[in-house]
Amino acid sequence: MGLYRAVARPLFFALPPEAAHRLAQTLLCLPLPWERIGGAPGDAALRTSLAGIELSNPVGLAAGFDKSCRHLDALGRLGFGYVIGGTITRDPRPGNAKPRIARYPRRASLTNAMGLPNPGAESAARNLARSPRSGPRLASIADQDPAAVIATHVLLEPLVDGIELNASCPNVSWGRDRNNEAHLALLLRELRARRTTPLFVKLPPFRSIVEREVVLALARIAQDGGADGLTCSNTRSVADRRLSTGGGGLSGRELSPDTVRIVAEVRRATAGTLPINACGGVFTAADALACLEAGASTVQVYTGFIYHGPRVVRDMVTGLSRAPSGRYLAPASPPGQDGTRPGGFRREFGATAGAGERRPGPTRGSGGRPAAGGPQALR
Ligand SMILES: Cc1cc2nc3c(=O)[nH]c(=O)nc-3n(C[C@H](O)[C@H](O)[C@H](O)COP(=O)(O)O)c2cc1C
Repeated sequence: MGLYRAVARPLFFALPPEAAHRLAQTLLCLPLPWERIGGAPGDAALRTSLAGIELSNPVGLAAGFDKSCRHLDALGRLGFGYVIGGTITRDPRPGNAKPRIARYPRRASLTNAMGLPNPGAESAARNLARSPRSGPRLASIADQDPAAVIATHVLLEPLVDGIELNASCPNVSWGRDRNNEAHLALLLRELRARRTTPLFVKLPPFRSIVEREVVLALARIAQDGGADGLTCSNTRSVADRRLSTGGGGLSGRELSPDTVRIVAEVRRATAGTLPINACGGVFTAADALACLEAGASTVQVYTGFIYHGPRVVRDMVTGLSRAPSGRYLAPASPPGQDGTRPGGFRREFGATAGAGERRPGPTRGSGGRPAAGGPQALR
């Protein structure tokens, strides 16, 4: 058991969840050697391109950990292939009343009903402008009013490498009360003409047949509306009396099987035309590989970071390096060439893999699947 699980996690877990989160954020402000604390090894075979954004590895930090976009540099230096700040709304939001996070340590899960507390787009833009841009970073945005989403997009897009549109928060009433399909279609229409960086749409999870229809319809709307990728998925709505709202979004281990299934179904529904970021219960390299095998292009981690600590990226990247993960990854763009889309969303961070460095074997785009060495090889 590592230092985090033996020492730091018991200390963090002795505090109420939001106090532990504040402590983590205070630590992230310190000038510590985050690269060494994370310790993710570099592996040219794991370099990949996500809608033209060049990543050193396919393990991202999911939205919601850094809601103010203040700590993305330190978080990126832990070794994440990319990090997502937010979710940011046009105006500041206090979020729901506390308590709004509950832990289930035995199930390695959490429930949260944060309700998108954030400092608002102007403050987030100032934080992003102040923070070194040392690796790929995205901003997650959402709002009730389409004009507010556009205004946030205008403010944040120049400061990040891509935007994730959060079309799936279970903890804000406007997410449920509105016609999501019409709202998403309208937003994508408005954004299509203006944007210059990739746009990802984060979808809710689904279990029932009805939910499945709704989510697959949203995925197709995103596809038709010109989105560059999808994130599957956000948290699953559950009841929890410990929260002020009586319920919230479940995250963590319990989502793992659903995530793999949802990635495969969404990929099928969109005919493999869009990269998918798998999110929900990704804790280990085996989890990540299962998602890549199901058709994901990258994975995103939140609750795994809380339970496994900063070494979660190193463990995942090391495990993926040993597995045939490169077969599933979109090749990084060769230096000097443009990204995957004609318009060129490409932005480089350090050297990208040259064609000769790439791991041999079919990529997903060419339809290949390896015969052996699946996630069970890592368990
Ligand atoms: C405390 C907390 C806050 C979150 N806030 C956001 C958010 O602001 N925006 C968002 O898109 N997702 C948010 N999420 C959802 C995560 O990004 C992720 O989709 C979800 O937790 C599933 O991944 P996981 O099992 O790795 O945690 C939040 C999750 C947690 C636990």
